[in-house]
Amino acid sequence: MLNKLTDNDPTASSRKKDHIELAFQSQIEEGKLDSRFYYEPLLSGHPKAEEIKPFRFLGKTLRTPIWVSSMTGGTEWAKTINQNLALACNEFGIGMGLGSCRSLLYSDEMLSDFDVRAIIGEGLPLYANLGIAQLEQLIKQNELFLIDNLLNKLKADGLIIHVNPLQEWLQPEGDRFEIAPIETIKTIVEYASFPIIVKEVGQGMGYESLKALFQLPLEAIDFAANGGTNFAKLELLRSDKQKQEIYSKLALVGHSAEDMIEMTTKIIQELGDGIKCKQVIISGGIRNFLDGYYAINKLPLPCVYGQASGFLKHARGSYDELRDYVDAQVQGLILAGAFLKVR
Ligand SMILES: Cc1cc2nc3c(=O)[nH]c(=O)nc-3n(C[C@H](O)[C@H](O)[C@H](O)COP(=O)(O)O)c2cc1C
Repeated sequence: MLNKLTDNDPTASSRKKDHIELAFQSQIEEGKLDSRFYYEPLLSGHPKAEEIKPFRFLGKTLRTPIWVSSMTGGTEWAKTINQNLALACNEFGIGMGLGSCRSLLYSDEMLSDFDVRAIIGEGLPLYANLGIAQLEQLIKQNELFLIDNLLNKLKADGLIIHVNPLQEWLQPEGDRFEIAPIETIKTIVEYASFPIIVKEVGQGMGYESLKALFQLPLEAIDFAANGGTNFAKLELLRSDKQKQEIYSKLALVGHSAEDMIEMTTKIIQELGDGIKCKQVIISGGIRNFLDGYYAINKLPLPCVYGQASGFLKHARGSYDELRDYVDAQVQGLILAGAFLKVR
């Protein structure tokens, strides 16, 4: 006689055996529950692949609420990394910030490392990136037109300005800012006919800095919060022992993405109509789709979540590895959308 159960479910017996063997390895430790969400198993069927609706962000249409945070250029790996990242952006409908394009201001020698517009496509946001120290220099030397040249040669939609005083201070070959970055940013905003995003590099920023930025007509603010890659720590690793001992605790100051979401929520209430920047990239220490899903649902402004090191880990080799990683993030986001509500 046919056994109906095993005919319909040929792996049932080995699965049941797995369950018994693995049950003891599958105990969750006390206090480890993720309490950021209500888990609602009753209210949805399993989601379909096309569940995330395209949406407008930075003036273009994205298909996934993720951002590739600014990374590299000018090293032997840079071209492969940037091309892989741009390919993933194109396939999944993601926006991308390039790493510092300082080397392209006066020369085109490294252009091919950064030149990914043809790969990412016209329809998605691609931003160039310069540090506040370079912008201070360009203002002083009356050379702001070089930013327009940079954006033209990269066919970039706009400029990301990174503000990184701790990194510059700790970097053996670092620059010093002569004036407050907010003044430099205001000068660039007045000059620019292109959209501007301002970010830190992994330390985040506090209430007053955030509030000052939200009052400027920026295209977006990118948190680049503390909790993931930290450039104070990274530069110290490149320094001598004495400097490491003196400054190591600096890596621990700053603000997490969650902290910055809370501050931003207060700033929105405080500024009311005075808020001029209405889009945010939540980044810095976002380790996976759950962190990202939580963050973008918590912040009451149009936003996406960004990752740098998360992508970097998978972008140095074949595109397939990166593709699998991004696909898993997207699938995770879709699943979260069906069954998780942020508390
Ligand atoms: C290898 C590497 C290079 C980076 N280079 C830049 C850069 O040129 N400009 C910039 O604004 N941020 C740069 N960053 C900082 C990231 O954009 C991001 O703010 C930071 O890594 C925190 O994100 P994470 O925790 O997801 O890594 C770099 C990060 C990494 C890992």
